[in-house]
Amino acid sequence: MLYTTLKITHLTCVLLTYFLFLTRGVWLVRDPQALSKPWVRVVPHLVDTVLLGSAIGLVLITRQYPGEQVWLTVKIIALVLYIAFGLLAFRVCRKRATRLAAWITAQLIFVYIVLVALTRTPLLI
Ligand code: HEM
Repeated sequence: MLYTTLKITHLTCVLLTYFLFLTRGVWLVRDPQALSKPWVRVVPHLVDTVLLGSAIGLVLITRQYPGEQVWLTVKIIALVLYIAFGLLAFRVCRKRATRLAAWITAQLIFVYIVLVALTRTPLLI
């Protein structure tokens, strides 16, 4: 029961975080002012916190630990890269082209994280 709840929470947050990231990227191109709305600054952090909380819950309940399970270690490294490219896109970079490049790279990393989770192997095969 707890496992199912955590898994559903984790997967819902995965969808939500991607949708928010996608929307913020579209605004970056079309309507940068929308990015400074208060809820846009808060909601993604809330979703990411729940995503991480459910991830920790799943690690504990399934007893699959990063360091022991290569796919989880790689997932965490890829998550750090995803966050870094997200920061480049939305905070650090100033030029539109570089921000866009960082936003697209972050999404490719996100897709990789999902594929690693589904295949449970870093090489995806
Ligand atoms: C952007 C970040 C993340 C994404 C997109 C993501 C995606 C996913 C997906 C799609 C699954 C389902 C796999 C399946 O049912 O076959 C999953 C499961 C899982 N995730 Fe994440 N995840 C993320 C972050 C994390 C983090 C940081 C951890 C902790 C190290 C983590 C731990 C787990 C675990 C342990 C499972 C498997 C639970 C089981 O055996 O059923 N996830 N993740």
